[in-house]
Amino acid sequence: MEFDFTSLPERDRYRLLSSFVAPRPIALVTTVSPDGVPNAAPMSFFNVFSQEPPILILGIQTRPDGSVKDTVNNLDASGSFCVNMVDMDLANAMTICGISYEPDVDEIATAGLNMTPATQIDGGWIAESPCAMECKVAQIIRYERRIIVLGEVVQMHVRDTCLDDEGRYVRPENYQPIARLHADNYITSDRQFELKAPDQPPAGLKRKDAP
Ligand SMILES: Cc1cc2nc3c(=O)[nH]c(=O)nc-3n(C[C@H](O)[C@H](O)[C@H](O)COP(=O)(O)O)c2cc1C
Repeated sequence: MEFDFTSLPERDRYRLLSSFVAPRPIALVTTVSPDGVPNAAPMSFFNVFSQEPPILILGIQTRPDGSVKDTVNNLDASGSFCVNMVDMDLANAMTICGISYEPDVDEIATAGLNMTPATQIDGGWIAESPCAMECKVAQIIRYERRIIVLGEVVQMHVRDTCLDDEGRYVRPENYQPIARLHADNYITSDRQFELKAPDQPPAGLKRKDAP
């Protein structure tokens, strides 16, 4: 099947793009409002794009009525946000945070979660998350109805059991983030495998870095 994106309605574009560019990791984004109300919202238009500088990117849509989501208002005002990674234990709470509430609702408490005060930014991170990254807003790009947020990571919190004793490599049996597939379908990373490039290139080809 072929789809001409220059004439495809937005709903179809969303359905196709989000179904096929998958699985997408989920950032449970915590922010704090100017009145001090904690907020949490899942975002799967999310990924890491650089380690130097350490940049995470979020793609946030305006609501169907054109209004801006609380997450955007909060991170715009405070200049910071925190990305909390989501595993199976956090999955149900994450969906509760995905419901649209009035800005004065503490979504973290509503979802039965707990906040740990952040180290370098306002607000906090979710104590139940296996990994949380405190970010300072580096840039906000307003592109039609999409708001693209670049955040620079300033502090990372990792649950001890998710890393080896040296704090270098992840323990795959202990860190198993979930990711979004299509519609309400998700996947967990409990079938991980190692895949290495062959030692030798295919016959007749030389490695570019070979002496
Ligand atoms: C798994 C999941 C992923 C989502 N990803 C996004 C996203 O990438 N961008 C977005 O604008 N909304 C996304 N949403 C919807 C927001 O989480 C939802 O609109 C939320 O109510 C916004 O909350 P806020 O107004 O407190 O910021 C997602 C929802 C779920 C459940």
